[in-house]
Amino acid sequence: MEQKFREFTKTDVSLAVKNHYRKMRQNQTFDYVKRMHNKYLNFNNPMELWEAMYSLDNLIDVSDPDLDLPNVQHLIQSAEAIRNDNRPDWMQLTGLIHDLGKTMYLWGCDKDGTSQKEQWGLVGDVFVVGCSLPESCVFPEFNKLNPDMENQKYNTQNGIYQDKCGLDNLTLAWGHDEYLFQVLKNHKTNDLPEEAMAMIRYHSFYPWHTGMSYSSLLNEKDKQYLEWIKDFNKYDLYTKSNKTYDLDEIIDYYDPIAKKYLGDTLIYW
Ligand SMILES: [Fe+2]
Ligand SMILES: [Fe+2]
Repeated sequence: MEQKFREFTKTDVSLAVKNHYRKMRQNQTFDYVKRMHNKYLNFNNPMELWEAMYSLDNLIDVSDPDLDLPNVQHLIQSAEAIRNDNRPDWMQLTGLIHDLGKTMYLWGCDKDGTSQKEQWGLVGDVFVVGCSLPESCVFPEFNKLNPDMENQKYNTQNGIYQDKCGLDNLTLAWGHDEYLFQVLKNHKTNDLPEEAMAMIRYHSFYPWHTGMSYSSLLNEKDKQYLEWIKDFNKYDLYTKSNKTYDLDEIIDYYDPIAKKYLGDTLIYW
């Protein structure tokens, strides 16, 4: 039987997934996201890229209904699928690192939703904060639990944003995507193409890339972004399997690619 992915409505979808999304919707307000930017985007924790990869051997993403392997396995599965399709080396590297922002759990806490136990500020589909929540959000019944939806400043279609301001001017719910994007933007050498940085930043933005919401906020450039993200999403989603890899065995192949695009792989988190 063909394997299906992201079936959030099936009856056996774990209670943990549903609880995760309830907490995420309740807690991810505009003010919360701004606080997290201030708290986590300081880039004063040096850690080797490969050490960060190893750290994801101890993290299982609670929001993912399709995979209960350590996250590092998902990263290797994605990268290896991109490599098998003979896609460019930068895209293979992007597959390998796209979820590396989850390493935030190492210095996260339950209160922020950034810990091993509480992951609602770390993983899961993201949405825009500062404007109304679309029905395309997973578990849309939780939208009304978001305190910003009571605030006239934030509960209209465009909220605080200008019409057609474009994706890069929106503030998204806090999580591993924006975190890694900002960490890599701050990294002293970053020759990753714009496509890679967009894939990293927007891959969890399902209400946009799959739900097709937020059309009043998008600009011309975002059409290009959508093509890139759709292309990447195949590898993020459809490569999930029980096949496991040994990280030590794939480092030799990927390390030169990481050095080619990032220079020194000591990263400031
Ligand atoms: Fe992700
Ligand atoms: Fe992923």
